[in-house]
Amino acid sequence: MTKVIRTENLTKVYNHTVVPVHALGGVDLEVEKGEFTAIIGPSGSGKTTLLNMIGGLDHPTSGRVFVGDTEMTALKESKLIDFRLRNIGFVFQSYNLIPVLTAKENISFIMLLQKRSKEEMEARAIQLLQEVGLTDKADVRPQKLSGGQQQRVAVARALASRPQFVLADEPTANLDTQSAFNLLDIMQKLNEEEHITLLFSTHDQRVIDRARRVIKLVDGKIASDERR
Ligand SMILES: Nc1ncnc2c1ncn2[C@@H]1O[C@H](COP(=O)(O)OP(=O)(O)OP(=O)(O)O)[C@@H](O)[C@H]1O
Ligand SMILES: [Mg+2]
Repeated sequence: MTKVIRTENLTKVYNHTVVPVHALGGVDLEVEKGEFTAIIGPSGSGKTTLLNMIGGLDHPTSGRVFVGDTEMTALKESKLIDFRLRNIGFVFQSYNLIPVLTAKENISFIMLLQKRSKEEMEARAIQLLQEVGLTDKADVRPQKLSGGQQQRVAVARALASRPQFVLADEPTANLDTQSAFNLLDIMQKLNEEEHITLLFSTHDQRVIDRARRVIKLVDGKIASDERR
């Protein structure tokens, strides 16, 4: 099996607070290619902190993060930005789409940063719009899309760069039941048919039910880790 993500004794202390907050207390985690993993745990247990470290969005206090063979925690900021762009797809609970761009343009945006050819961008964006069931919304801006549709655009955008894995921090938190099921169907299909590696944090039982592996954090440590 290919390891896509590996963390070694990852700790995070937030020090700028009145009392230092020990958000992660030594997390060792390995994720194999094609896994669909849910990170669960009470509010404040460190889920978002862990995803931010694995995504290279924030630096750990100690410990290391590897993505494939690359030690991401050893990369200088400029290299890190480029590495993240090429290797990691992000989906946030608030979608974070660019309001002045259409659905298709939002999906193409990362490929533009990656300096892909126009033809390649166009073909990939059309394919992804189809995969998330939004072909007819290609030229619509986010404000005219429902929350569920915006989140599907966000998923398509995350996949545009063909990342090694997709990180999602509570991707269904703001979605109604039908939209959440729609999104989960799409993610599950991408996982099963294209072997896309997914790592989600969630409180949502619907997400937990779909995941093949469930890791529970308590007080910044892995309390349980079950594959099924
Ligand atoms: N930027 C920050 N500065 C200071 N403390 C922080 C910061 N971010 C998180 N924390 C603290 O670190 C701990 C872990 O927070 P984190 O956001 O990772 O938890 P979480 O499991 O994602 O919670 P939730 O389920 O509510 O999203 C909490 O005690 C939180 O208050
Ligand atoms: Mg969180």
